[in-house]
Amino acid sequence: MCGNDFAPDETGLLAEVERAERALLTAPEAPRGAAAEAPTGALHFDELIAAEQKIEPRDWMPDAYRKTLIRQIAQHAHSEIIGMQPEGNWISRAPTLKRKAILLAKVQDEAGHGLYLYAAAETLGINRDELVEMLVSGRQKYSSIFNYPTLTWADIGAIGWLVDGAAIVNQVPLCRCSYGPYARAMIRICKEESFHQRQGYEILYTLSHGTAGQKAMAQDAVDRWWYPSLAMFGPPDGDSTHSEQSMAWKIKRFSNDDLRQKFVDMCVPQAEILDLKLPDPDLHWNAEEGRHHYTQPDYTELMRVIKGDGPCNRQRMAHRRRAHDDGAWVREAAAAYAKKKAAA
Ligand SMILES: [Fe+2]
Ligand SMILES: [Fe+2]
Repeated sequence: MCGNDFAPDETGLLAEVERAERALLTAPEAPRGAAAEAPTGALHFDELIAAEQKIEPRDWMPDAYRKTLIRQIAQHAHSEIIGMQPEGNWISRAPTLKRKAILLAKVQDEAGHGLYLYAAAETLGINRDELVEMLVSGRQKYSSIFNYPTLTWADIGAIGWLVDGAAIVNQVPLCRCSYGPYARAMIRICKEESFHQRQGYEILYTLSHGTAGQKAMAQDAVDRWWYPSLAMFGPPDGDSTHSEQSMAWKIKRFSNDDLRQKFVDMCVPQAEILDLKLPDPDLHWNAEEGRHHYTQPDYTELMRVIKGDGPCNRQRMAHRRRAHDDGAWVREAAAAYAKKKAAA
């Protein structure tokens, strides 16, 4: 077993990504329901959603659907970009050349995810400059998980296993999201996330089967990343403000609590193979309910970190603003070149 996608059969997460990809490719031939007879407006939109067809940029869509998607996709894109920072912190200190090459490739993948997602958001009629401006001005958020520090090399393992692991559990259902450009971006992203999760798992496995000191370092990293990873699924269902409408629009397919449970159930057997403990004394299998019982993360802490008061919020934003300013000349040069080419 080496990751969340390990199950080699139809129950694995990657198998689900592949099924979603097949469904996406065959959707244009599938019956479009009453949508065919209602070519414009709200009726058309509702019928497309009911027929499990994709909404494309050319289709009419309710304003609130468009706004919800812009918010969600932008927040997702920002998270990919800010998420490069905690791991970038270890590129120059990776223990071997091979580890360094793998980590570099992973961090580059995250930049690519950010780009696909900004491009998907742009199909909704907002431009990239506006999105970046909303991030650097703090008007749009990114995932609170990236406001925690990476203190040791084992944190790179814990991030891959738990953070990319939680991301993939969250994102596989988005491969079936009703908005076409987002669903298509997510298929590619999930395939890459699966590699990220495996590389983290493999780092932890190596450490936990190394010296006593290495094993302690791996355990310490898991102890620190476990609850923030559980919090990545968002507030509990009762407090989740956008969930119900997003489910009706088929943007979201499962509730926060259902996905969190799925993640816990996947991690428990993997932790056993890693020979590491999940830091929850109440964690146990409930045979009657067919699921693990676990301690919820501290949602007050989650809200505090989202609001800007996590251990690294200020540092992450300052770094992002500096990188944006430092890159101004590249944007200017690219724009001048494009203008020159258009004139020619
Ligand atoms: Fe990613
Ligand atoms: Fe990733």
